Order: sequence, then structure tokens, then C-alpha cells
Amino acid sequence: MSIELRDTSFKYRLSGGEEIEALAPTSLAVEPGAFVAVVGANGSGKSTMAKLMNGLLFATSGEVWVNGRRISAGQNDLFARRTVGLVFQNPDNQLVANVVEDEVAFGPENLGVERSEIRRRVDEALAAVGMTKEARRDPHQLSAGQRQRVAIAGALAMHPDYLVLDEPTSLLDPAGRREVLAVVDEVRRSRSVGVVHITHIVEEAVSADSVVVMDKGTMLAVGPPKSLLSDEDLMAEASLDVPKAYRLAKRLREAGLPVPRCALTPEEVVSALCSSS
Ligand SMILES: Nc1ncnc2c1ncn2[C@@H]1O[C@H](COP(=O)(O)OP(=O)(O)OP(=O)(O)O)[C@@H](O)[C@H]1O
Ligand SMILES: [Mg+2]
Repeated sequence: MSIELRDTSFKYRLSGGEEIEALAPTSLAVEPGAFVAVVGANGSGKSTMAKLMNGLLFATSGEVWVNGRRISAGQNDLFARRTVGLVFQNPDNQLVANVVEDEVAFGPENLGVERSEIRRRVDEALAAVGMTKEARRDPHQLSAGQRQRVAIAGALAMHPDYLVLDEPTSLLDPAGRREVLAVVDEVRRSRSVGVVHITHIVEEAVSADSVVVMDKGTMLAVGPPKSLLSDEDLMAEASLDVPKAYRLAKRLREAGLPVPRCALTPEEVVSALCSSS
């Protein structure tokens, strides 16, 4: 059981016959219940990777496996879409209904799930994203952060084994971003689904079990966030910043304060300072 890329590459074919290699051969496994963050600058291949994981795109070379099944065009692609829920950047591109609970019911309805079970799943998914009170509202009248939470509920209602979130916060204001991150945190803490969180905001990757660093279609590194996100050369190579708290901690160290290199969040910096005083 896992999502596995085995030497997977993907090329987009343009109408003039030109090809763009969006993902160079890459191997990666996402285990059930894991929280994996994928970070990379614009055009580094993150969305292409996400779509390969859930059967929206198919490998040009190499293989994609989901829970022991090989995914290719017309072969297990529906299984991949059901098993790996994908949430996009823009909630408005994925909302289809005029009532929140109908929106969340849409996925399980398409799977042919029985009515009473749909009701149960909708209630459960809305509770998971804190939107129970908004069940009868028109999603178009909600804030962007709330609409993104509805989109996440829609994906959860399909009972996927994995959730791939493709920059779910990048179009939101700070309040919306906090709301969605809290929901992502809650979902992955429950460990009932594996979460792949794609983001170009390195701070959002700090608490992941492992981080995948992408650059120009290549996986530069995969490993624990503590070591990768604090690797200034690696982050520069990927055109990313180190986390802001890491930069602050570095300045404090240079000023002689005992803040460890592994402090990547504001909380860790504060606690290092407090325990030293
Ligand atoms: N539909 C497409 N047709 C042609 N080329 C594409 C298409 N989608 C993406 N690409 C190209 O593939 C490469 C990887 O794109 P991808 O969208 O996977 O990157 P990304 O990391 O998700 O970027 P962003 O941060 O902008 O979302 C880029 O060079 C991009 O221009
Ligand atoms: Mg993208």
C-alpha cells in the first residue's frame, strides 16, 4: 500500500510537436498516513507530479503505482482518482453545486454510493473541515478560505486513502490560509489519510514527516524537513528561501545567543531563547 513513482517522467506535447519535460525520471513513495510536503518554485513540476499521482496524467516513461495497482490510461485510472483525492489551488475551479452539502455529496454520488451512506459521509466531511453550520449555504457566498475547505470536504467524502493538496493556500488571504492549514493539520494528525501537501511556502513544510524538494522537473532531495529546509545551498538551488524563523535564529546565533540550527519555527526559536535565559 502506497503511492509510488518508479522512475516516472512526464513530457507535455505542444501542438507544434515540441515537448516539454515537466518531470524528469523520479522515484518516490508516499506511505499510508504519511505527511509529505513537496516544495519547489514555479514550473518545477509539482502540479504535474500531483496529477500523475491521481491518474489525471499518465507517465511518459516509468510507472505509477497506487496501492499495488499500476496506473495507466484506461487501466486503474478511476481507481487512482478514487484512492487519491486531489484538491487544486483555486477552489472556484472545482465547485459545481449551489449548496455546500450538494457539493460535498457530488463525489460519492458519482461513485454510486448509497444515499444513507452519502448523508453520513457529507456530515462527517463537513465536520472534519469545520463547515457543518454552512451545510445549506451557497458556496459562492462563502469566503475563499471556506470554499477551499468545502473543496477539501468534497475530496474527503470520497474516502480516499491519500489527499494531494496542490498549493491549497496560495490564492487565499492570511485568514483563509490559516483556516485551511488548520484543516490540513487536523486531517493529517488523524492519520486516516496520507497527505501530500504541495507548496512554495517553505514554512508550510516544516512539520511534514518528509519533504520533497523540486527544481525544474527534477527531485533535488527528499528527507526530513529539519535538515533539508535549513540547507541554505539546497534551498538556493531550488530558488526557495529558508524558513523565516531559521533566518532569525541564524541572526540570533551570530549575536551570540544559543539558538540551535534545528530551530525552524518561531515557537522553536522562542523556546530555545526562554530555556537559555
Ligand atoms: N498543460 C501544459 N502544457 C504544456 N506545458 C505545461 C503544461 N502544464 C505545465 N507545463 C510546463 O511543465 C513544467 C512544470 O509545470 P507544473 O505546472 O507541473 O509546475 P509547478 O511546480 O506546479 O508550477 P507552479 O508553481 O507554477 O504551479 C513547466 O515548465 C510548465 O510550463
Ligand atoms: Mg502548480
